[in-house]
Amino acid sequence: MRYHLKTYGCQMNSHDSEYLAGVLEAFGWLPSSAGEADFVLLNTCSVRDNAEQKARSLLGKLRRRKLSQPALAIAVLGCMGERTRCQLEKQAEIDLTLGPRQLEEFPDRLRQLHQEREWPLPVEEPVAIPYRRTQGVTASVNITLGCNSFCSYCVVPLVRGREASRPPEEVSREVAEAVSCGFPEVLLLGQNVNSYGREWSGWDLGRLLQLLHPMPGLVRIRTMTSHPRDFPLSLVEQIADLPKVCEHFHLPLQSGSDRLLQAMNRGYTRTQYLSLVQAIRTRFPRASITTDLIVGYPLEEEADFLDTLQLMEEVRFDNAHILTYSPRPGTAAYPLGDPIPKGEKARRLSLLMEAHQIHALERNQALVGETVEVLVEERDPRSGKMYGRTGSDKAVYFPGEEAWIGSLRAVQVETAAAWSLLGIV
Ligand code: SAM
Ligand code: SF4
Ligand code: F3S
Repeated sequence: MRYHLKTYGCQMNSHDSEYLAGVLEAFGWLPSSAGEADFVLLNTCSVRDNAEQKARSLLGKLRRRKLSQPALAIAVLGCMGERTRCQLEKQAEIDLTLGPRQLEEFPDRLRQLHQEREWPLPVEEPVAIPYRRTQGVTASVNITLGCNSFCSYCVVPLVRGREASRPPEEVSREVAEAVSCGFPEVLLLGQNVNSYGREWSGWDLGRLLQLLHPMPGLVRIRTMTSHPRDFPLSLVEQIADLPKVCEHFHLPLQSGSDRLLQAMNRGYTRTQYLSLVQAIRTRFPRASITTDLIVGYPLEEEADFLDTLQLMEEVRFDNAHILTYSPRPGTAAYPLGDPIPKGEKARRLSLLMEAHQIHALERNQALVGETVEVLVEERDPRSGKMYGRTGSDKAVYFPGEEAWIGSLRAVQVETAAAWSLLGIV
């Protein structure tokens, strides 16, 4: 029996899909293309309307296919599964709906489906479900679940629920398992990793990093995402003493306008954001700083937009995910509607993208002639070169051998483009 699992959205959703695939394979399913699958699962995202549209369009195709192939099973899981559960559950062609907080029910619900459909069950009941990790040399590990920030535009707290930290022993056990399975790099995940351990006295992200750092075989530790509001300078200092923690700081800015930052409930000002960037760059001159930005928030006027552009010019991000605003039902900003015309949003988006491309190229060009440490991930099928990333999350291509996969190499950078570097070991 064959399954096809299509994932939308963020890193956390991709990691949830590693769990879902692990469960399916423990029940004897094999991965396949959508066209050949007996069971198609959509692990969906609700962050913007167009993420939901993509899933809806695939669902429409599957619905039509089910007319000629009634045995086809369909599941809608993840954030849209949660947000639109009432509508989805009324649709007879959908066999299973689960939100991101209920994925632990997936093995039981899958067993039930096997019984109803008379699909064969595994001879031995699966006990421990291994993640089917798909990220090359990197193992993702959740450290916090949910989100308490309630940024005015964001649906995540509504679909992923309240924030909770996973106990340090549990995180440490999972990291040790990943390392013993040959993953030299871990990515500690949370909507705001900087609030880790808030519910217990004496725990925070710095202490968790100190706990994991000495683990033999663990080469690199990454984190995603940090909230700029919760990044104390003491954490910058703690990281400086932990060389396995990567010099990559993803600090979503969202807007460079103080007026908008307040309306978005972000909890920092542009001055505070800039001081954090400065403190990081002083301590880690080679650090990369990346961000997320939203254009076209309902209250965004030209002056606010220019503040964002100006802040970008000042910081010069190594990378930025720039998105146009999408109203999400249930959020605080939803009643403000979506008053900025599409064309105006597109103009602002392209101006930010243009500036960003110049900055990214300039940041990469500064590395030409330097030697960078690369964790080798794979042979790039297109160029035939080896591919890996620096601790600062720069993609590097260089001639080399597959035997290097999983190890660190010193690569001299010869040429730079905006999104990658070319070099020689
Ligand atoms: N927790 C992270 C943080 O605080 O930055 C990010 C999580 S969110 C899933 C990823 C990004 O989606 C956000 O940083 C924001 O830029 C973008 N985003 C969230 N809601 C949005 C909306 N309604 N319209 C456009 N972009 C949105
Ligand atoms: Fe959304 Fe804000 Fe939470 Fe990030 S911190 S997930 S943007 S509510
Ligand atoms: Fe991620 Fe999208 Fe949910 S960004 S948390 S999958 S709404």
